[in-house]
Amino acid sequence: TMQQLSTIEDVRVQIQAARRQGKTIGFVPTMGFLHEGHLSLVKAAREKCDLVVMSIFVNPLQFGPNEDFERYPRDIERDSRMASEAGVDLLFTPTVEEMYPKPILTTVSVANVTTPLCGASRPGHFDGVSTVVLKLFSIVQPDYAFFGQKDAQQVAVVTQMVKDLSVPVEVVPCPIVREADGLAMSSRNVYLSAEERSQALILSQSLQQAAEWLAEGKPLAEIKERIEQMIAAKPLADIDYIQILGYPDLEPIEKETSGQDIIVALAVRFGKTRLIDNLIASVR
Ligand code: PAJ
Repeated sequence: TMQQLSTIEDVRVQIQAARRQGKTIGFVPTMGFLHEGHLSLVKAAREKCDLVVMSIFVNPLQFGPNEDFERYPRDIERDSRMASEAGVDLLFTPTVEEMYPKPILTTVSVANVTTPLCGASRPGHFDGVSTVVLKLFSIVQPDYAFFGQKDAQQVAVVTQMVKDLSVPVEVVPCPIVREADGLAMSSRNVYLSAEERSQALILSQSLQQAAEWLAEGKPLAEIKERIEQMIAAKPLADIDYIQILGYPDLEPIEKETSGQDIIVALAVRFGKTRLIDNLIASVR
């Protein structure tokens, strides 16, 4: 049966007990309003680790002043049921007061990989992410931490932080989970109206097209142009960015080389909802 704990101290006690029993610890940090994407991370953790810890914490540090912190969807009872059924052993649900009793004076800031894409559109966002993730790592002390490639830049940021600061955890990236029609699962999908939801399919559709064009050997600049046209043709789509960068360094591509790994990354607003999606592939 799953334990649900809301204080850092209670988590430390349970983790210590598990460690003494020689258990390996897998960690799945989330902001809740769980869906199959989150549960796929639990499944990966279950397969690899003895004790699976999930956190649910809507982290104010990673939201900008005009973003959706207040209205971010929350349903802890449903989440708790889903986590338990998926095989979470320990669910950590701290309050903001528990995590940040006083204004925080220490911030983790990762350079370079945070510069493009969401780092450019959401100033301070990745500082908030790296800071809370390091804090959660230091509370849970996991052997493995599971992150979705849906947030590919977040994976790059956390991986860099762990390497730079010698954090004793292995970051495990997991594939994007999609709805049957292709829409990448996201807690924010509930914001979408029926019309927005249907036009938002253009994200995954254009990435699928991109994969085909890449396989045909079309130049990256042309692929980017065509994706832009496909998305811009949807009246409710407001493009934040469409970028093709090197992967995993997220550096601009100076010159296309065969076999080079790339990411096609999209962020598009539909009404008040900002959606992201991406494709990782290589140049033919
Ligand atoms: P959240 O958006 O709740 O996502 C938690 C984890 O689930 C992240 O690793 C994310 O990449 C993964 N995830 C979300 N949708 C997914 C999908 N469709 N397929 C696969 N994985 C998916 O990301 C955060 O929370 C926060 O930034 C956090 C890391 C918890 C720090 O606050």
